[in-house]
Amino acid sequence: MSMQVDPNLIDEVKARNDIADVVSEYVTLKRAGRNHSGLCPFHSEKTPSFTVSREKQMFYCFGCHESGDVISFVMKRENKGFYEALKTLADRVGMVLPQKELPPAEAAGFRRRQAIYDALSRASSLYSSWLQQERGKHALSYLRGRGLSIETIERFGLGYAPDAWDEMANALRQQGASEEILVAAGLCLPRPGGSGVYDRFRNRVIFPIRDARGRTIGFGARALDDSQPKYINSPETEVFSKGRGLFALNLSRDAARDEGFMAVVEGYMDAIAAHQAGVRNVVASLGTSLTQEQARQLVHISQNVVIAYDSDAAGQAATLRGLDVLRQAGASVRVCEIPEGKDPDDLIRSKGAEVFSQVLKEAPTLVEFFLGLYRAKYGDSRAGRIRTASAMVPVLEGLDDPVELSESVKLVAGRLGLTEEAVRQQATATARRRAAARGHKTAQSRNTKTDADNLEDVASKDTPAEVQAQRRILGLMISSPERRKKALEELGEGLFSSGFAGVFAALGNDQFDKEVDFSRLNIITGDKHKDLIAEVALADQPQAEDEQVRLYKDCALVLKRRRLRRLYAEIQSLEPGAEGCEQLFGEYQGLLQEIKK
Ligand code: UTP
Ligand code: MN
Repeated sequence: MSMQVDPNLIDEVKARNDIADVVSEYVTLKRAGRNHSGLCPFHSEKTPSFTVSREKQMFYCFGCHESGDVISFVMKRENKGFYEALKTLADRVGMVLPQKELPPAEAAGFRRRQAIYDALSRASSLYSSWLQQERGKHALSYLRGRGLSIETIERFGLGYAPDAWDEMANALRQQGASEEILVAAGLCLPRPGGSGVYDRFRNRVIFPIRDARGRTIGFGARALDDSQPKYINSPETEVFSKGRGLFALNLSRDAARDEGFMAVVEGYMDAIAAHQAGVRNVVASLGTSLTQEQARQLVHISQNVVIAYDSDAAGQAATLRGLDVLRQAGASVRVCEIPEGKDPDDLIRSKGAEVFSQVLKEAPTLVEFFLGLYRAKYGDSRAGRIRTASAMVPVLEGLDDPVELSESVKLVAGRLGLTEEAVRQQATATARRRAAARGHKTAQSRNTKTDADNLEDVASKDTPAEVQAQRRILGLMISSPERRKKALEELGEGLFSSGFAGVFAALGNDQFDKEVDFSRLNIITGDKHKDLIAEVALADQPQAEDEQVRLYKDCALVLKRRRLRRLYAEIQSLEPGAEGCEQLFGEYQGLLQEIKK
């Protein structure tokens, strides 16, 4: 059976859908010579390698090598089959495709999804009309009581689900929907242990969730009082996933492009309140912490994203996770500081749109945000400031604009009262290590060994006293040039277990003639032992000279005993007369003499 679509029809759909226009609906494109370029929607990137040619009506990504025409773009981006993509593009320009062209393989899935969208759209209208009726009076006054205007309620298509078990099921069945579709759309649930279905949302205010094109894909439903759960949302369906949806996306795209940034809030009401107050570049992430897919969608609308989550603990935790996800997706992120205990909705209602708008515009950059966070955490003592500087390295590393980097280094150094050089060295050392690790995939396991790994090694073999002794020796070596000199003369790297050994070796570098420069130490150790170094260096040391000497001797003895035990075990494990046996035995004898002394 030939179900080929008429080639002339395909050509016409393509001719009427300019690829650059279609792509622009998903990706912000800039002119680049004869072509247009933007951030690739098919992989995460920070610099545009996605290229669209109007002349050739083709796209190509220099990063992920994805390529094609306008139809394959829609297929890939919207995860659709050929016919469905064709239909989408035909719809876009008001063309009607003959039904008989539907290829059977795609037909079933396509029709099913159409039926789901259709049910959702009808449901949305029903909820809206119920809100206007007598039965929805209390829901309407609830929304009005929360400060929403009639205009806003209409703009967002808010509605009411009556306090009944099968109102929606009956209404939509009457309009021809099957029970199977009602369940697939997430509107109804099968009756437990019986036949038939019942409504998912009952006696709740309804917030329709729409996709970028304005199609209803799901609902959030809020209780009218304090009953739990506060919100019930659509389940995962063939057209909706909580991790992909962004509430108010369709209403905020233009504003985000005009304003140059998009703000992300947590809740439905936060987004609605912002829009009503005239701040329209705002979407809600539906309470969940931001997913990669959501981040990607945001970045393709605007590369600048401001997180404006609630100021409670949950909101702060979600902010931290969101930051990471957004940064990985290539966003330049700022973080809003909503005054304590509030969400944007509260803020707008109590302080007005001006204040909210100001808070968004003045949101601190990522660097300022983390600097504040770490300073509060580590304090302003010298040790605390050094810790903060070292904690800032990953944040600085994430900046790939050299101007921004250099300004941020200046800022961090200035606020912490450290030299720019010290801060910069920390950052470049880590960058170099990263580059090296990328360049030598094979050596990666060795290169990227972290303190955590090393401490695990240590923990598995060393007794707590041995771990402590190694820490203390290194601490003494860092704080006292005399102890350092002595230790370097008397002790060897072999007395330490892996993580500690690296730091010991680094301290042997002759550049530390007097004071130990932490950034240098981190560079020499390739930043592998940053936490260990910070910990060791910040531990209290005895001030009196004689106490230092005694501590040093005690610890050195522990290390030598440790080594002796190891040597003994190693010798035992060898065949008599095996290669290297004699050498180990020599070392054993020597160490034994030293300890006896
Ligand atoms: P919040 O608890 O901060 O609610 O959850 P809110 O937005 O301030 O709600 P109002 O102002 O009391 O009406 C933030 C978001 O988390 C999701 C919703 O998307 C909500 O808007 N959420 C919250 C749920 O999905 N289920 C819940 O039970 C609670
Ligand atoms: Mn709220």
